[in-house]
Amino acid sequence: MRIEHLSLTNFRNYARLELDFPGRTILLQGDNAQGKTNLLEAIYYLATTRSPYAGAEYELVNWLAENQDLPHARLVAQVRKGDSSLRIEITLVRTQSSRANNSRYRKHIKVNGVNKRALDLIGQVNVVLFLPEDIVLVSGSPSGRRRYLDATLCQIDPRYCRTLQKYNRVLTQRNHLLRTLRQREGGLDQLLFWDRSLLENGAYLVARRQEVIGELDRLAQAVHLELTGQKERLRLRYVPSFDPSRPLPPDYQLSLELDLPSEPGIHQPGTNLSQVAEAFRAQLREIRRREILQGMSLIGPHRDDLRFLVGGVDLTIYGSRGQQRTAALALKLAEVKLVGQEVGEQPILLLDDVMSELDDARRGYLMQMIDGAQQAILTTTDLKAYSTEFLAGVTLLRVKEGRIEEIVNK
Ligand SMILES: Nc1ncnc2c1ncn2[C@@H]1O[C@H](COP(=O)(O)OP(=O)(O)OP(=O)(O)O)[C@@H](O)[C@H]1O
Ligand SMILES: [Mg+2]
Repeated sequence: MRIEHLSLTNFRNYARLELDFPGRTILLQGDNAQGKTNLLEAIYYLATTRSPYAGAEYELVNWLAENQDLPHARLVAQVRKGDSSLRIEITLVRTQSSRANNSRYRKHIKVNGVNKRALDLIGQVNVVLFLPEDIVLVSGSPSGRRRYLDATLCQIDPRYCRTLQKYNRVLTQRNHLLRTLRQREGGLDQLLFWDRSLLENGAYLVARRQEVIGELDRLAQAVHLELTGQKERLRLRYVPSFDPSRPLPPDYQLSLELDLPSEPGIHQPGTNLSQVAEAFRAQLREIRRREILQGMSLIGPHRDDLRFLVGGVDLTIYGSRGQQRTAALALKLAEVKLVGQEVGEQPILLLDDVMSELDDARRGYLMQMIDGAQQAILTTTDLKAYSTEFLAGVTLLRVKEGRIEEIVNK
């Protein structure tokens, strides 16, 4: 798939932008603080309804727009996907009650002119974003890795996204109840009710994570071998917070019927959902007292992790910076392949200033991926990071103070 046109109004430092994307590879060049990252952020936001950076929506709205009568920002993308064409529009409108220094914005989404929920948009346009900060996936905390898994799965599986939303709601309610039960006796019926929702939704998340990590492991292994000149074999290991395949006692009655009839276009996990759910249930039962004592849910997909192993060594703990960076890159490249496989179309690659961090071999490999993509949009401050051959094949745009100024003659 490819983005053909982007319009921005009051998004970050773009007061107004109309931009076509000719060719397959676009290189945005500009000095620091001109708007390169903001442009990639806009495309990512249109695809996922999330910003990889902003904590709150108001950060995305141009500062000057705050003083206008009806403060708003608008992003529109025209996207080609196979034979069809999608017009995606997200408008952020300031809600009335807000004060000037703490504005709140409401998001309105349209696809081909029809109002949609965020859940209906996510996954329609697939992007993979490469950032220098990707290394944090390996070196950072489990929550970052969970966020990454969720974002990746949401792009390829709408049911995952819906289930995740439900799971998070249930988790909040259940934690609330556990805190109440810490104060006073009783309420077990209510807890069993929330347990059931937790494990029904949680089982799907765990089963899908298991599958997707298995596939990413296979794909990343091959990429990583190439990136390291066949020297290092990377393995990705799912670390669920409970054992989803723990055998159940022989007399255990499976009481859950979770395997739904398959819907067209929606994935049915190969793993037995009922088995995962029952294992979850059995383990919830074992830790019930501890959960009540601590007043929170201690097992479930919200406590999962992912490990990166080379020769059995955990890179999060022992990896060198270079090893961590390479593993993160291998994971992202594996994601590109995974998305291509699952949705049957190449995702749009967005690469924010990543070349300068890489050595020649890794850069060469990444260039190869860019060549194979239907569309790649890259940013750089310095054209010297690129070979003349590469530059000859790209559309070069210059970013300056929130404007895409000129197409530089090469
Ligand atoms: N809501 C906003 N309104 C106006 N300007 C903003 C807003 N948010 C960020 N900016 C500004 O946009 C400018 C460009 O930011 P951006 O991150 O896109 O730069 P960049 O070209 O990627 O620079 P670098 O090479 O340093 O990464 C920054 O100076 C930033 O302060
Ligand atoms: Mg930047």
